[in-house]
Amino acid sequence: MKISVIGCGYVGVVTGACLGELGHDVVFVDIDKRKIEAINSAGSPIFEPGLNKLISKNHHRLSATTLVAEALEDTDITFLCVGTPSNDDGSINLDYVRSAGTDIGKALKEINSFHVVVVKSTVLPGTTEEVIKPAIESESRKKASREFGISSNPEFLREGSAVEDFFKPDRIVIGFEDERSKALLEDLYAPFECPKIFTDIKTAEMVKYVSNASLAMKISFANEIGNMCKAMGIDAYEVFRAVCMDRRINPAFFRSGLGFGGSCFPKDVRALISKIEETGLNPRILKSVIDVNEAQPLKMIELLKKHLPNLKGAKIGVLGLAFKPDTEDIRESRAIVLVKRLIEEEADVISYDPAAKDNFRALFPGISYAKTADDVLEADAVLIVTEWKEFEDLDYREKLVIDGRRIERARRDAAVYEGVCW
Ligand code: UGA
Repeated sequence: MKISVIGCGYVGVVTGACLGELGHDVVFVDIDKRKIEAINSAGSPIFEPGLNKLISKNHHRLSATTLVAEALEDTDITFLCVGTPSNDDGSINLDYVRSAGTDIGKALKEINSFHVVVVKSTVLPGTTEEVIKPAIESESRKKASREFGISSNPEFLREGSAVEDFFKPDRIVIGFEDERSKALLEDLYAPFECPKIFTDIKTAEMVKYVSNASLAMKISFANEIGNMCKAMGIDAYEVFRAVCMDRRINPAFFRSGLGFGGSCFPKDVRALISKIEETGLNPRILKSVIDVNEAQPLKMIELLKKHLPNLKGAKIGVLGLAFKPDTEDIRESRAIVLVKRLIEEEADVISYDPAAKDNFRALFPGISYAKTADDVLEADAVLIVTEWKEFEDLDYREKLVIDGRRIERARRDAAVYEGVCW
């Protein structure tokens, strides 16, 4: 098939590159010329394991442009993958989605064949039908379901393992209105053997939010229990290991420590809270999920102060700046909250991250950035903030370590060791 992908963030680029690997012709669209150039030179515009290889291997099927009309002209399906950031009050900002809808509408006006628009951007239930569809209809002067198709197909890709997740999905969710769009997407996803859920558009949109909210809720629950375990000298990991042997309780996402960061969980839970409130209901559980998560990184400072009561002038090492391993992304990283607090306490911060250093430096130019993890170990105390694999190979003997991510080697060898929830 011929496919266009609007938005070259990690969802758009991964989706497009993986569709290329399946043999489809893909045209990417973005306003950022550097991203366009990267793709047209057969490279990935973002850091994501496996992506560069995929793009260079399939470069003859992949191209990129800044013009929506040019991309849509010759394609059958458009995936809408632009970002949906948070407003200051936690509500979702639909500016990019709205303007992409308008651009798609303008392009569809000039196209005579049936074109299906598939919304992959994370949008609250109702948005595709109430915001995106009307924007396309009014610009194109065409009617959805009759003259073009509209559909919702949320993504469940994790940064750092997005390519693998694309090819091994647990399920594929498709919200649709008309049979022609359904048939086209059935065809596109035919190579995948996982369950496929065909439903209405609003339900598909809701599945995405409830999936992320469920995972975020598990993490905050694990942290609430973990804090209590720590206070009582119990190892939370040992507790959850046994709890999750109950077949009814899936063990994933109960890793306690510093809580969740990233561009999705914090933003999506806040957006869902704001939507529930708008409906006149009180999202009590979800508000607590955020409360627990916001307080969690500061547990690390409490534990640090147990051993170094005065942080002024103390050299504090921070291992890991990315919000999770295998990414350069620092959005809502727990390291941001921690470093901010360390600066307030006038500590001398030395940090290391194998991928996220430059992004972090743009935010915190005043701290030191070590070339190797070993340099950080020279500090008076070391905080483990991201569980990069290489941190398992460091020599923690004679060190004071506060571990937010359960690095076994540090737990075993450090002279003084505190786990946040164990
Ligand atoms: C998350 C979801 O896992 C994806 O399914 C979803 O598609 C994506 O959001 C999205 O909406 O786009 P991602 O944010 O890339 O993916 O990362 P996760 O691996 O889910 O981790 C999120 C945060 O939770 C990280 O900061 C991680 O350190 C933290 N986490 C995760 C824990 O603190 N404990 C756990 O047990 C698991």
